[in-house]
Amino acid sequence: TPADIGVTGLAVMGRNLARNLARSGYSVAVHNRTPARTRALVEEFGGEGAFRPAESAKDFVASLKRPRRLITMVKAGEATDAVIAEFAPLLDEGDVIVDGGNAHFADTRRRERELRERGIHFVGAGISGGEEGALHGPSIMPGGSAEAYDSLGPMLESIAAKAADGSPCTTHVGTDGAGHFVKMVHNGIEYADMQLIGEAYHLLRDVAGYSPGQIAEVFRTWNGGRLDSYLMEVSAEVLAHTDAETGAPFVDVVADRAEQKGTGRWTVQTALELGVPVSGIAEAVFARSLSGHTSLRAAGAGLPGPRAEAMDTDAAGRFADQVEQALYASKLVSYAQGWHMLRAGAEEYGWNLDLGAIAAIWRGGCIIRAAFLDRIRSAYAADPGLETLLADADFAAEIGRAQGDWRAVAATALRHGVPAPGFSAALAYYDGLRADRLPAALTQAQRDFFGAHTYRRVDRDGVFHTLWGGDRTQERAD
Ligand code: 6PG
Repeated sequence: TPADIGVTGLAVMGRNLARNLARSGYSVAVHNRTPARTRALVEEFGGEGAFRPAESAKDFVASLKRPRRLITMVKAGEATDAVIAEFAPLLDEGDVIVDGGNAHFADTRRRERELRERGIHFVGAGISGGEEGALHGPSIMPGGSAEAYDSLGPMLESIAAKAADGSPCTTHVGTDGAGHFVKMVHNGIEYADMQLIGEAYHLLRDVAGYSPGQIAEVFRTWNGGRLDSYLMEVSAEVLAHTDAETGAPFVDVVADRAEQKGTGRWTVQTALELGVPVSGIAEAVFARSLSGHTSLRAAGAGLPGPRAEAMDTDAAGRFADQVEQALYASKLVSYAQGWHMLRAGAEEYGWNLDLGAIAAIWRGGCIIRAAFLDRIRSAYAADPGLETLLADADFAAEIGRAQGDWRAVAATALRHGVPAPGFSAALAYYDGLRADRLPAALTQAQRDFFGAHTYRRVDRDGVFHTLWGGDRTQERAD
């Protein structure tokens, strides 16, 4: 009997996804460019379910039930185009190709359009949760046609993570590249979360004088409250770990240069094009970038700055409580920015994104999974047209209560010379939203002065220009 679905590309993510499908009772055709991987998978895990190994693309496609459904799990970029070029000619109208890699959504839009013209459904699906998630239940963000989702949905729902209320962490997020767009924003938020946790760690270490082990304990406590999240848990695990070789805290033996494969950068690039201020994500990308510029940092190493003063135990404990407030408030801001970007993307690309449903499918399986996402889901359930998460009554009240400590932490960071760009940028965004008047008025006037770029007035409609070089009278420019 033919296989329910096929997976091609059996590196760790593809292999684990194939195993997840097989363990869920589906028969899975498996294929890899080099057949050794296919054989290894069947040898090692063949007992977990019904695998149909295929050595050639042709045999692989021939072993699939119609309409055929195949998932490619290869590297984003050229490898994905190569796989499509290899498989598309072997497929028929109505067949479905799912790209489960971290593709750029613009590539996914292009591929979807090209394949649609040939009658083939192309589904760009964001898959989050790393190796473990792929095996035990990821969060899956499929785009593509509704028709393709009708055929894939039940399978995806059965292999996806389940939220605390039992609902599967997948849904049809939108057409064409919507799935990969949503995954990209997920990763941007992931970067911001990681940066903010890093800043909290840095402040607790250098200002409060805590050891990595003590910070692990603080993080565990926070993880029992509103900051409960997978990334918080991971951070505590890492900080509590000791390097076996040296006996030093593990975090101290890791080189402090953060790398990136590119999805955070894509988020910021796209946000710039959409005109959405995602300053939290941008600061996170820049902070990784700064960390990696070794010679630049060496050149700056001797620059003067304040010495952190020691804190007594009571003060350190009070400060740690304030850092919790700052971290929570900053996190809230970066999620508000991320959701603004989702809304702007939906508008620009014509996707009907359900902003609450996206929060719902991130409650489990993905890297940013957190109790907090259920609150975002309910905020959008209460008001689907919510302009910003910060305007939700509960979130607004919380951030209002946090802002005193948040400011104190940001000020302390500045005074002690500990960089906290995420905390500061989030606070600046918050104050920017709150402001009655912004200096943008001056910016507009400057633009009009040196370039006749015109301005609007607060007291009446119309576009104006002032004759700055002449008698400074104002003329209509519309
Ligand atoms: C996920 C992760 C995953 C991955 C990123 C990390 O959702 O499962 O986001 O996609 O870990 O590739 O990205 P960087 O290498 O850019 O940090």
